[in-house]
Amino acid sequence: MRVVVGISGGIAAYKAVNVVRALVLGGHDVHVVPTAAALRFVGRPTLEAISRNPVETDLYEGVAEVRHVALGQSADLIVIAPATANTLAKLATGLADDLLGTTVLASRAPLVVAPAMHTEMWENPATRANVATLVGRGVVVVGPGSGRLTGHDVGAGRMAEPGDIVAAALGAATTADVPTRTAAPPLRGAPVPDGMVGTRVLITAGGTREPLDPVRFLGNASSGRQGVALAEAARDRGAEVVLVAAHLEVPVPAGVDVVQVATAQQMLEAVRREAAAADLVIMAAAVADWRPAAVADGKLKKRDLGETFAVELVRTPDVLATIAAERPRAGQIIVGFAAETEPDHERLLALGRDKIAAKRADFLVLNEVGHDLVFGRQETAVTVLDRTGDVLGSAGGDKRSVADAILDFVVPV
Ligand code: CTP
Repeated sequence: MRVVVGISGGIAAYKAVNVVRALVLGGHDVHVVPTAAALRFVGRPTLEAISRNPVETDLYEGVAEVRHVALGQSADLIVIAPATANTLAKLATGLADDLLGTTVLASRAPLVVAPAMHTEMWENPATRANVATLVGRGVVVVGPGSGRLTGHDVGAGRMAEPGDIVAAALGAATTADVPTRTAAPPLRGAPVPDGMVGTRVLITAGGTREPLDPVRFLGNASSGRQGVALAEAARDRGAEVVLVAAHLEVPVPAGVDVVQVATAQQMLEAVRREAAAADLVIMAAAVADWRPAAVADGKLKKRDLGETFAVELVRTPDVLATIAAERPRAGQIIVGFAAETEPDHERLLALGRDKIAAKRADFLVLNEVGHDLVFGRQETAVTVLDRTGDVLGSAGGDKRSVADAILDFVVPV
């Protein structure tokens, strides 16, 4: 495999040499692209000797071979280790003012970044937003871990170990869509935790997308706002939270572990993995119920398909019903959502009762959705049912207050 290893300018650059070495020993063709700042920490001869390839940094070297895009176009995988706060900001904005920037922009290969910086920089809202943007685009973020940093400080921001970076990178390359878990940094100035300390909560959020060809999918209008609000509410009560996220339109919350998934099948796999340790599972995601039976390798062309063509759809797994049937942890509470377009409240409740009975969840959060209701909006209104179909209560308002009300209903006191 042809791997580009980008190195940006931080003290952890010396550890990147081991990332390059492990990839070369693994039989890969490794091309190192250090930023100018990285070369102040580790020398070009070292990188050339270890990678066994020439090392370029300058946009204006190799212009005849259009080197500034050729490296990216030909890469099967790009790994950036360490990724400084500055490099993450450049990647998030799509800046291409050096060879690493143009290489990344000109590539369709999976991108794996291993951030390294001081804790304050990692926790800064600007960095959080940049990381969220990158994660939202499918970039795999490895680490950072916590530990001793340069100088006397200790905290989150230490680059992941080279072995872990290589493992995550190879995983991302072999199955470009393998969900990867991103550990959350500790929150600074977190609210005082209360009732959920020691509780592990798994929340699904967003909307799955089922591919039809490399550029088209069957999706839905979920923004992920309600699931993210639930994750924040549980985190603020002191819970350990993992969010299984599909195409969020809102930033991932700080202080929450995130597993990015794309399809219903991937969501099932991630939920199965994470549910074994969860005390409370809340399925707020809008999961596609069908997927195209066949996914075309190339883009479907109008000239081949004409004015109309039919797509055969097949059912996806029901994540909620599967987990509720498996109950991987004793005493676990499982909460489902129901999105219904029924305007009549009594009939809406009847649909909710049918759904909770069919899916065998412990609670069901029922909301009425429509062309202009709920999905993507800030405000919502829900009714919560228990497993016997009894109405526990209703809540309305912004999604965060509704999230708090839902937790009040479903978390045992
Ligand atoms: N759900 C799921 N897997 C699916 C479909 C839905 O886990 N393939 C979950 C959702 O996350 C939600 C609940 O099931 O918690 C109900 O989702 P909803 O879309 O309301 O119901 P469906 O099961 O899709 O049924 P229908 O669309 O026929 O009403």
